[in-house]
Amino acid sequence: MHLITAKTRLSPNVTRLDVQAPRIAEIRRAGQFVIVRRGEGAERIPLTIADSDPAAGTITLVIQAVGKSTRDLVALEPGEAIRDIAGPLGHPTELITAGRALCIGGGVGTAVVHPIAQALARAGVNVTSIVGGRSREWVILEAELRRCGDVVVCTDDGSYGRKGFVTEAATDYLKSGRCDIVYAVGPVPMMRAVANLTRPLGVRTIVSLNPLMVDGTGMCGGCRVSVDGKALFACVDGPEFDGHRVDFDLLAERQTTYREFEQAAAARPDHDCRIGLGQR
Ligand code: NAD
Ligand code: FES
Repeated sequence: MHLITAKTRLSPNVTRLDVQAPRIAEIRRAGQFVIVRRGEGAERIPLTIADSDPAAGTITLVIQAVGKSTRDLVALEPGEAIRDIAGPLGHPTELITAGRALCIGGGVGTAVVHPIAQALARAGVNVTSIVGGRSREWVILEAELRRCGDVVVCTDDGSYGRKGFVTEAATDYLKSGRCDIVYAVGPVPMMRAVANLTRPLGVRTIVSLNPLMVDGTGMCGGCRVSVDGKALFACVDGPEFDGHRVDFDLLAERQTTYREFEQAAAARPDHDCRIGLGQR
């Protein structure tokens, strides 16, 4: 059982939970994730470890409530508990140790970019982050990223920061001088657009993929992606890959595979996993 120690609303449908998981807090590295099961019989949800506090023994999870399981998870309050947290899973981020890095976060993907920017800044890399949201209220983790370096905020409607997609600000940054590596995490069209931007410039670009996952151990095949024409599993071979080699069309197609099941689950009357948590 993992006690929730704090809960914060970051945007209209994104919630931050700080959760007790002392061993994971101690050993996790940027880029790694956990698989969370709220209660007995609940769906397994892969979530990036957005931050950790080894002294307090907590990890930070940032959850976008998009379906039944994520809505159930963010309904938990401090003092309640998550039944299972497995991890840290996946390969840590490939980090540079000097030079200039550009970190691009689209919407909730900013939560994945944060630990990367943090690790780069700690290593002494010059970090610029570009974060985007549909409008001001959808921009997350700006203050946390400012502790890692410069930040450019973009909103689609211009209600805060620069008007436009993150790719427009990235284009200007890439024109302005040297960039040794780009990390981009967000919706598939955003990551594809960033990869298309950096490919002709020859700037190494790392993207974090979030296909559907079940076991998180390379056994079920659910998270299959195609990179450089090879079938790989995001859970054990990633989740980060060379963005210039990812088949984004396949990724987008596979992400919609279970949409009908998700919609059906969301329409079903709620069953409360806390009953399972308390009684088993
Ligand atoms: P969103 O749709 O609101 O987009 C966020 C920002 O991304 C936009 O403000 C814009 O700056 C940029 N963007 C979007 N489409 C773009 C395009 N076509 N070209 C260039 N830039 C574009 O994002 P959201 O609703 O917060 O995020 C939801 C998506 O993020 C889901 O699709 C989810 O699967 C994905 N996601 C990915 C990861 C990951 O690890 N890759 C993690 C969490 C969520
Ligand atoms: Fe099952 Fe990756 S989640 S193989």
